[in-house]
Amino acid sequence: MAAPIVRFNFLHVYHRLALFKHRPHETFVTLCQFYSSESAARQKPEQNITVLGNTYKTDSWTNVRPKILEKVGKNLHLKKGHPLNLLKTRIEKHFYENYFNRWRNPLFSVYDNISPVVTLEQNFDSLLVPEDHISRSLSDSYYINTKYMLRAHTSAHEHDLIKSGLDAFLIFGDVYRRDHVDASHYPVFHQVEGARLFTEHQLFSKVRDPTNLKLFEEGRREPTKQESHTLEAAKLMEFELKSTLENLAADLFGKGLETKWVETYFPFTHPSWELEVKFQGEWLEVLGCGILEQQILKSESIVKQCVTLIYRHKIFISYFKIDCVWQVALAMCYTAGAVDSIGWAFGLGLERLAMTLYDIPDIRLFWSEDSGFLSQFEGSDHLKPIKYKEGAHPVSKFSPCINDLSFWIPENFSENDFHDLVRNVCGEYVEQVKLIDDFKHPKTKRQSQCYRIVYRHMEKSFTKEEVNVMHEKVAKLATEELGVEIR
Ligand code: DAH
Repeated sequence: MAAPIVRFNFLHVYHRLALFKHRPHETFVTLCQFYSSESAARQKPEQNITVLGNTYKTDSWTNVRPKILEKVGKNLHLKKGHPLNLLKTRIEKHFYENYFNRWRNPLFSVYDNISPVVTLEQNFDSLLVPEDHISRSLSDSYYINTKYMLRAHTSAHEHDLIKSGLDAFLIFGDVYRRDHVDASHYPVFHQVEGARLFTEHQLFSKVRDPTNLKLFEEGRREPTKQESHTLEAAKLMEFELKSTLENLAADLFGKGLETKWVETYFPFTHPSWELEVKFQGEWLEVLGCGILEQQILKSESIVKQCVTLIYRHKIFISYFKIDCVWQVALAMCYTAGAVDSIGWAFGLGLERLAMTLYDIPDIRLFWSEDSGFLSQFEGSDHLKPIKYKEGAHPVSKFSPCINDLSFWIPENFSENDFHDLVRNVCGEYVEQVKLIDDFKHPKTKRQSQCYRIVYRHMEKSFTKEEVNVMHEKVAKLATEELGVEIR
C-alpha cells in the first residue's frame, strides 16, 4: 500500500480541478479507498437527513456530515458585499456586456440558485464520467445516499440545461469535495460554469465563403478533434473558446496579462485545456475547459423523441414496407435541429480567483461572519480594485496551537477520511492538517502515520485546554470510526 499512497497525495494535493482531470487508469489508489470508506459506512444505522427541506434516507453510501450540511443553503455567492458575490458580479457583467443575441439582448442566461443536491447521474453519468473514475469514490465526494449527492462541480447541470433548449448559459453555485485541510482547500467552495452552443450557420457566420464548411463528418478521433467533428469546426470552436476566456481573464486581471494554454483531459470535453495566467511572477491555473463531447448534446429526450416518432409513423411505415434502418433515419430527420450544434464549456473556481485578486490569505475567511473581514468589501463597487488588508483582521494576530497525532493505520485507510473527520470535529478552528511522517514497520509491516494539526481561531486566542479537548475528540473518533490505533 505504501507506494500508491504517496502517488495519490501528489496528484490530489495538486489542484482542485485535478479531481475531474484524472483519466480512468489513474484511479487505482482511490478504488482501494472506495472500499475502505464503504465498509466504514456500512456499519451506520439507517437514518433520515434533511437537506434544503427535503428528507433523504441514509444508506451504506452516506458519508456527508453535519458540519458540511450546515453550509448548504448559505449561498455566499449571493450574499451582497461578500467578495465571492463581487467576483460573481464582475464575471456576470463581463458576459452581459460583451455577448448579445440578434435582438441585442444578453446572450448568456445566468443560473445562480440551483440546488446543490443532485443525482449521481447528473454529477457523473450525464457527463460521461467512467464508472471507475476517481471522482466517484467515497473518499472524494459527499454522498447523501446511493442516489443523491452534493454536487462536486457545477458541470452537473450542463446536460439538463442543454436538454432544456438553452444554448448559452452561466451557472454559479456551491460545490462540495472531500479534500485535505489547509489554507487554500475547504470542503465547500464555489464555481462558475459556462457553456455555449453553435449551429453551423452561427459558427461559420464570420467566414468569408462558408459554402463548403460543415460541422460534422464521420472521421477519426484525434488529439485536435472528436470523430464526429470536422477539423475546421473544431479549430474555429477552439478559437472561439480561447478568445472568450482570454478576454474574461484580461477583464479580471487587467490588460497585458501573460497567459498560457495547457492541454489536459476531462471526461466530458475533447480536446480539453487549462488556462494559466502569470500573476505576481507565478503561473496560476485558473480554469478548465474544452469542446463538449458530442454525445452530451445528443440528449436523452432526442432518443425518446425518435422512439415516439417511429411509433407514430408505424402505420405509415409498415404500409410502405420501409425497413428498420429507414425508420430510424426518418425519425432522425424529424428531430434534426436539436442535435445540429457543437458546444464548448468551461469551469472556474471562485475562491481561488478571489484569493488572488483580493489578496485573501486563508480560504476559511470566506465563511467568516466577522465584520473585520466583511466590512472591507461591503459597499464596494465590483469594478473598483480592492485589496484585503491582512493587518486589519486578526487572522494572523492569534497564534496557532500545533498538536501532532500518531497512529497505526488499518489496511485501506483513507487520508481524506481523516481530514474530513478533523474538519467535522473542529470546523473552522482547524487551519491545516498535514501528514508529517509515514513509515512501515520493517518487522510487523504495520504502517504508521503522524499528522500535524494546526488549530487557530480567527477571532480569539485558543487556550491549551480548549485545543486539548478538540484534539482528544479527534483521537477518540479516529479510533472508533476509522479503526486507527493511537501510538
Ligand atoms: N467540472 C470541472 C471541475 O470541477 C471543471 C471543468 C472543466 C468544467 C472543463 C468544464 C469543462 O465545463 O469543460 O474539475
